[in-house]
Amino acid sequence: MIKEETIRISPEEIALQQQYAKEFAALEDRPKTYFIVTYGCQMNAHDSEKLAGMLEEMGMIAAPAKEEADFVLHNTCCIRDNAERKALGNVTWLKEIKKIRPSLMIGVCGCMVQEPGMAEKLLKQYPFVDVAFGTGNIHRLPELMLRAAEQKRRVVAVPQEQSTLIEGLPIRRESPFQSYVTIMYGCNNFCSYCIVPYVRGRERSRRPEDILREVEMLQKKGVQEIMLLGQNVNSYGNDAEDGVSFPRLLHMLGKTGIPRIRFMTSHPKDLSDELIEEMAKNPALCRHLHLPVQSGNNRILTAMNRRYTREQYLEKVRKIRAAVPGIGLTSDLIVSFPGETEEEFQDTMDLVRTVEYDSAFTFIYSPRVGTKAAEMPGRIDPAVATDRIERLIALQDEMTQKNFASLVGTKETVLVTGQSKRNPHQLTGKCSRMISVNFEGDPASIGKILPVEITAASKTTLKGRIIQE
Ligand code: SAH
Ligand code: SF4
Ligand code: F3S
Repeated sequence: MIKEETIRISPEEIALQQQYAKEFAALEDRPKTYFIVTYGCQMNAHDSEKLAGMLEEMGMIAAPAKEEADFVLHNTCCIRDNAERKALGNVTWLKEIKKIRPSLMIGVCGCMVQEPGMAEKLLKQYPFVDVAFGTGNIHRLPELMLRAAEQKRRVVAVPQEQSTLIEGLPIRRESPFQSYVTIMYGCNNFCSYCIVPYVRGRERSRRPEDILREVEMLQKKGVQEIMLLGQNVNSYGNDAEDGVSFPRLLHMLGKTGIPRIRFMTSHPKDLSDELIEEMAKNPALCRHLHLPVQSGNNRILTAMNRRYTREQYLEKVRKIRAAVPGIGLTSDLIVSFPGETEEEFQDTMDLVRTVEYDSAFTFIYSPRVGTKAAEMPGRIDPAVATDRIERLIALQDEMTQKNFASLVGTKETVLVTGQSKRNPHQLTGKCSRMISVNFEGDPASIGKILPVEITAASKTTLKGRIIQE
C-alpha cells in the first residue's frame, strides 16, 4: 500500500496564492470570463465551487455558456471509462473554438489529471490545453494561470502531491441554502475495481474545529441543509490524534442549529452502532442513508475487497431500520465484475428485492488501469453486461414504485429548492428521505423547510400539498 503523509498547505502558501490572484487580476491582457465544466461526484462539484471562488478573486466573472467564456476549465472524473472519454471529447471539441478565437484559454483539472501518465498524454496529444493540474494542486490555480498568461506558454503542474489538506480557499457556493462541507479527503479502502485511492490519495480528515467553524458560519448565513462529504465518512478521524469520531462530529454539528445534516458516502464495513445510535437521536440528521453494497454475492464481494459479507450488510440494514423508522436507503451497484456468473448476479437481484432501496445508481464494471480487478480474468461480454444492468434497473424501478406508493398519505418536511422545470406554478424540493417532492406554492418559500402531505407518487418524484399549520 502506498504510504503518504498528509501535507497541510500552510496559511502562508494560501496568502501567496492570493497575491498571485491579485497580480493576475491586474494583468491587462487576461481572460475576463470563465466557465467550469464539472464531471463526477459531489467532491468534484464542491472543488468546482472552490475553483470558481479563486477565479473570482482573480478578477474573472462567470460566463453564461462555455462558448462565450475566455477561460474554460474542465474538472474531470475518471471513475469509469465513459466519464473519462466524455471529458477528453469535450476538451477536444474546444480546439475548434480556439481556432476561431485563439485567445481562449483551456484548462483541465480533477481526478483524471492524477492518473499515471495523464499529464504526459495531455502535454503530447492535447497541445491546445493551456493549464493542467491535479486534485492535490487546486490551491495553485492563481499561480499556474499567472504563469500561463504572462509567459504565453502551457503549464502543467505535475500532480505528484496528492495528499494535501487545504484550508481557507474562497468558495463560490452554488446555492444560498444548501452547502457541501468536505470533512475528509481521499480513500484507504482500495476496493479492487476503484481508481479513487490512486487519484485522490490517502485518507485525511479536516480538523473538527475547522469543520465546526465552517458550519457555524453557514448556519449564521441562513443555510438550511449541509451535505458532509468524504469517500468514506465513517472513517472520519481515524487518521487524527484528537479522537473525534464521525458520530461525535455529527453530534457537535447537530448543536450548531443547522436544520438539516446529510452525509455521503458511508462504507458498510464501517457503519458502527454508535453512528446508528447518533442517527436515531440527532434530530438534524436526515432520514436517509446512502450505503453502497456493490454486489449481493459473497465471492464477488471478496474479490471486490469490500470487507463485508452479504449477511453482515443485511444485518446493518436491519439495525438501522429498527433504530430509525422510516429511513430511506439508497445504494450503488456494479454488474459484470470480472468472472460474475448469472447465479452471482441473481444474488445481487435478490438483495435488491430484500432491501427495497428508494433508488440506486447502477453501473457496468469498467476496468481501470492500475487497479487489481483490471488484471483479473473473466471479462464479461458487453451484451451480457447490458442485459444484466437492464434487468437490475427494471427491478430497482419496481422497488422505487413500491416505496414511493407507501409514502402516499404521510407527512414529510420538504426543503424547497426551486420551481419545477416543467410547471412554474409547482415548487420542488427534497424530503428528509432525499426524494423529490413537487407541490403547488408561492416561490417566496424557496429556501424554506415546509410540512407537506404526500398525495401521489409518479415514477421519479412524489406529489404533495402544503400543510397549513
Ligand atoms: N466512496 C464511495 C463512492 C465511490 S465512486 C463508495 O465507496 O461508495 C461511486 C461508485 O462508482 C461506486 O460506489 C461504484 O459503484 C462505482 N464504481 C467505482 N469504480 C467503478 C468501476 N471501475 N466500474 C464501475 N463502477 C465503478
Ligand atoms: Fe472507491 Fe472503495 Fe474507496 Fe469507495 S471505498 S472510493 S469504492 S476504493
Ligand atoms: Fe470521479 Fe474523482 Fe469523484 S474519479 S467519482 S470525480 S472522486
